Amino acid sequence: MTLSSEIPQQLVSKCSRWSKELERLSDDESRVELIKHELPDLLRDKPFFAEIFEGIKKGDPYPDVRTATMFDNELMLFADHRRHFSVRLFLWGPGEFVPIHDHNSWGVFGCVAGKIEVLKYKREDDGPREGYARLTETQRFKLRPGETDFTLPLNQGIHQIGNPGEETSVSLSIYGRPIKRPYINGFDIYKRQIYRIFSPKTKKKKLAMEVLKNFNRDTQ
Ligand SMILES: [Fe+2]
Repeated sequence: MTLSSEIPQQLVSKCSRWSKELERLSDDESRVELIKHELPDLLRDKPFFAEIFEGIKKGDPYPDVRTATMFDNELMLFADHRRHFSVRLFLWGPGEFVPIHDHNSWGVFGCVAGKIEVLKYKREDDGPREGYARLTETQRFKLRPGETDFTLPLNQGIHQIGNPGEETSVSLSIYGRPIKRPYINGFDIYKRQIYRIFSPKTKKKKLAMEVLKNFNRDTQ
């Protein structure tokens, strides 16, 4: 478990200010605008990130590398206790990309080191067919350190990001309060398929609940 005293004080101060400012805003567009304005300064703070990377290298309790999140290259740096937002770090090996996916909240992300490639998609079908989704690519660009982009919930924010370079890269994401959905959608653009991606914790819980139904019946 991460103790709040282990989180760098400058991140705690920044996040407590963001929390108060986000609370006053009533729509996702203004929240995205606020964080887009704030994030570049943090992205360019090399001493701050060097300390984080040293902590990971040494196996310090912060940041927590043990708790599994949605993607295995993701580390939680800060979770607002009022759930207005969370701050997550992503480490990318050369050529590594996450699958095309949607989001359960607004998000602003940016590049800390190396290059981050962003591919954005539009969903062309209106979703009546189970497991089917037709996407077209609408944008493709690369972020350099200090540059940002944003995403929005569900079909408004379908994208893929990763590392197009030959050196390890790093990105930082701020995600807003999530809608109540225990998964995100993954998309296979070629097979025109949509599938659910669960966090390891949710996946294990779901599978245990499913096996219990038959397990109890079979042993009666
Ligand atoms: Fe994403």
